[in-house]
Amino acid sequence: MYILGIESTCDETAVAVVEDGRKVLSSTIASSAAEQNLYGGVVPEIASRRHIESISATARLALEQAGLPLSAIDAVAVSFAPGLIGAVLVGVNFAKGLAYAAGKPLIPVHHLRGHVAALYLTHPALEPPFLCMVASGGHSHIVQVESYTRFRVLGRTVDDAAGEAFDKVSRTLGLGYPGGPAVSRAAQSGDPRAYKLPVPHVDGRYNVSFSGLKTAVLNVVNQAKMKGEEVSVPDLAASFEWRITDILAEKLLLAAADTHAPVICLAGGVAANRQLRSQLEAGAKKLGIRLQLPALQYCGDNAAMIAAQGYYEYLAGNLAGPDLNGLATLPIDYQ
Ligand code: KG4
Ligand code: ZN
Repeated sequence: MYILGIESTCDETAVAVVEDGRKVLSSTIASSAAEQNLYGGVVPEIASRRHIESISATARLALEQAGLPLSAIDAVAVSFAPGLIGAVLVGVNFAKGLAYAAGKPLIPVHHLRGHVAALYLTHPALEPPFLCMVASGGHSHIVQVESYTRFRVLGRTVDDAAGEAFDKVSRTLGLGYPGGPAVSRAAQSGDPRAYKLPVPHVDGRYNVSFSGLKTAVLNVVNQAKMKGEEVSVPDLAASFEWRITDILAEKLLLAAADTHAPVICLAGGVAANRQLRSQLEAGAKKLGIRLQLPALQYCGDNAAMIAAQGYYEYLAGNLAGPDLNGLATLPIDYQ
């Protein structure tokens, strides 16, 4: 079954064709990240405008690269929630038009479920159940993936998402957007023990909190300014990266040990972080559990993951009518 997936919840306009939820035939992305960098973060209206400009060409390219005409597509899957609503609506409306014109079913896909499905593209034998940390720019969850379409949230951030913390710290350090890769790059030449950053206290065994950590970085910068001292950007970036990845890895490994999970996974934009990947690799090895990481090209927003999850939503009978709307918020465990 060929599914055309569409993703437009943030600053990536992406279209992909995936066969049977696992085999990527094409995956195209047009991003407004470089333009958003001028403003230090995503400006929702700019994202919406860039989506509407590039979505038709991106879809055409995805079909061309898959070597398929629109008539060969069996269904259209679209990321309908959660996200920047103006951006989401561009993808939803385009998907509705395409499904209507081609006379094909329309499949609504939750964006975070899509991030989890990126793992199926990377590991052909991976099947639920497994335990997964989903860490993106807007969300940080530890979820039990009970089946392809049934999720149980064990823990979440009580304030900022992990990616958001990277983005805000990057801005504080003058490193640009998106913050994750920029902070990581700067951290490479830094000493992670140079600055003692706090471990935030948080209620809930599997919950995390990053707002205090972000403020601690800001305080280091402001205090240095007041004293007329220089901050070492590589050292502060490395100290922050080490602290946040340590918290993320520790929480996932704690949940894994408590639930006797045989397989743990990582997903979302922050899953591209090398430090986090290697900390989890070491931790999983110690616990004797299997760790599955998404390929780097499927960590950040893409449409192949939406088409992959779309396949499993289709099999579960989760289709949308012509009245499908986009949603800014929706929990991953919605029914
Ligand atoms: O999943 P994603 O592409 O979009 C959302 O659904 O939000 O995640 C984007 C987030 C951004 O906050 C970005 O800074 C972060 O993922 N990110 C990283 C890395 N690459 C992207 N964070 C840490 N390390 C990275 N290498
Ligand atoms: Zn995302």
